[in-house]
Amino acid sequence: MIKRIAILASGNGSNAEQIVTCFKGSDVAKVSVILTNKADAGVVQRASRLGVSLIVISKNDLESKILLILREKNIDFLVLAGFLLKIPLSLIQAYPDKIINIHPSLLPKFGGKGMFGLHVHDAVIAAKERKSGITIHCINEEYDKGIILGQYALSVSESDTAESLQMRIQQLEYKYYPEVIERYIKSRELDE
Ligand code: GRF
Repeated sequence: MIKRIAILASGNGSNAEQIVTCFKGSDVAKVSVILTNKADAGVVQRASRLGVSLIVISKNDLESKILLILREKNIDFLVLAGFLLKIPLSLIQAYPDKIINIHPSLLPKFGGKGMFGLHVHDAVIAAKERKSGITIHCINEEYDKGIILGQYALSVSESDTAESLQMRIQQLEYKYYPEVIERYIKSRELDE
């Protein structure tokens, strides 16, 4: 049976768009809904353009309402794509190893509190790292420490700025996030 994905996003939504597009026509999974905590985020426009249903959920309602919404829509997997709120423990327990996240560094480096957006790439450049990249992982009780599903690296050049690095890292995200999600969902199916 085709699995149902909910994407959670707070920002621009370029990864969300890529994932929706890649799963159109997939026989493994489809994106059934996008949830956001920001009614004016770029992802809202993208969802309407893509014809995917969108639900705005406030920070206060997240804990009390999200499980009901997900159950009502028979969601099997959650995919975080730039979702900036803390995931409630109740959700992690309801979807064990079924919440997937992407982080724009090679975890465990440059993860944890405050490490999002350009802060990550600023820190990579300040540390004079020769490599950076992306980590696709499951969420567990310790935010950036779930099982790693895939890591992809690129070289950091001396002329890189946080912005140029971010742009190149986003290309890695678009290329690998959908395919790692699909591969993981397929492998979970074989386990069940
Ligand atoms: C991505 O770069 C991802 O690494 C991080 O949040 C960013 C979201 O960007 N988790 P977008 O909203 O998908 O454009």
